[in-house]
Amino acid sequence: MSSTPIASKVIPKASRVKIDPAQIEYTSDKQKNAVQALIDEFTISPELLKDIKNNFMEGMQKGLKKDGETLAMITSYVMGRLDGSEVGSYLALDVGGTNLRVVSVHLTGGGEISTRQTKYRIDEKLKVGDAKALFDFMAVCVDNFLDEHQIVVRGDTQIELGFTFSFPVLQTSINRGTLISWTKGFNAAGMVGKDPVAYLQDAFNRRHIPVRVAALVNDTVGTLLAHAYHHPDTVMGVILGTGCNGAYIEQISNIEKWKGDAAAKEMVINMEFGAFDKERTILPLTMFDNKMDRKSVNPNKQILEKMIAGMYLGEITRNVLLNLIDRRLLFEGHISPDLNQMWTFETAYMSTIEADASPTLHATRKILESTLSFPATSLNDRQIVKLVVELVGKRAARLSAAALAGILEHTGSWKQKSAIGIDGSLFEYYPSFDTDIMDGLEEVFGPVVRKNISIGLAQDGSGVGAALCALLAAKHSTSVV
Ligand code: BGC
Repeated sequence: MSSTPIASKVIPKASRVKIDPAQIEYTSDKQKNAVQALIDEFTISPELLKDIKNNFMEGMQKGLKKDGETLAMITSYVMGRLDGSEVGSYLALDVGGTNLRVVSVHLTGGGEISTRQTKYRIDEKLKVGDAKALFDFMAVCVDNFLDEHQIVVRGDTQIELGFTFSFPVLQTSINRGTLISWTKGFNAAGMVGKDPVAYLQDAFNRRHIPVRVAALVNDTVGTLLAHAYHHPDTVMGVILGTGCNGAYIEQISNIEKWKGDAAAKEMVINMEFGAFDKERTILPLTMFDNKMDRKSVNPNKQILEKMIAGMYLGEITRNVLLNLIDRRLLFEGHISPDLNQMWTFETAYMSTIEADASPTLHATRKILESTLSFPATSLNDRQIVKLVVELVGKRAARLSAAALAGILEHTGSWKQKSAIGIDGSLFEYYPSFDTDIMDGLEEVFGPVVRKNISIGLAQDGSGVGAALCALLAAKHSTSVV
């Protein structure tokens, strides 16, 4: 059993050692010019960052007015805040990242949380197959978890479950909603427009599993709640992982489209910001992004997500490398069969390459030669690969900063002490992502932002947050107060 898993931890300053393009010994002027062109294409200037932030804020306003806008600005039915005194035992099911997780959460009050969890891998075929089979699999995982942890239910009682379903769902209550679209490589047939809670509850009922889905939660909303349990000044929950998105606390009076409880003051909004700029008017998309987008299971959707999130960064990098190879500007024009396959350049490799500080770029060589089977690489090859990785990674962090700055400016929370909880493998493992985000925020707000805003890793926030939401939903049948 692990305890307090989501406490904000200090993120070590990542040892990102940058390639200085001026120090590369280019093999030709053509290579040098190609590298410079990539630098120009992938760099987000301070002016562009601010323009994107402004455009993003306009998108927020539109989404708060009516449904169906690019930024969906979904009302989560989570109203008000937590203070850490909440107690109880709950189950959470977290679906939407690389793994499915079942978590049992025990809240002891005073901000204390203990959890037990099991991860299950979701087969790629299930993600794009029949929806019923996918939800049956979820129910089986929960059943196995109950067995494994000997969680016994007596009589007619049911276990309350918080369901973190991290896809755009238009919520109609705390545990009802309809799927707007699939993202992140999921595309199970016949689900769009349907209620994921009904599917899951049905799968439990058919197997006589004594579990009731008490709350439907986006992972960003869960992250916000989980972070707030420890840090009451939390204003935002963000996911930077396989996908990306943010949730923040909005004044009900600003949500023009809200037709519900008029007495409530605040509501957590699941922004679905990965969908930003569907119109392609402001984001500096390159041909490498477009190529990846066209081959994805959801072309033309989730444009910002595809420039930021872990699922896509490796593939964008691969596309840039292939282009240089095809022009005989890298690896003397040779390609390894491994790199020739889509999605083989994992974002995890990028983290290792970013952190490679050795003069010969030893870790980079290992990935290229041992993992991706390139016969031999020169220092020049490795320097260029590292530079490309840095460009793609930094652009992702600066675009994240533009989005976060938009939220901070919209709410005005940059002016006072506020916390942001971020969960997700990209934020946790990618060197300097946090530093680059802070630098971007400083470009927008000036040095004061470093004093006022704390960014903390809200590890496992989505699971714990779902349990918190289930707890609160059980207390107040439709709203969290
Ligand atoms: C989904 C969001 C989710 C984000 C992070 C996106 O693809 O649409 O609902 O919050 O990924 O998991």
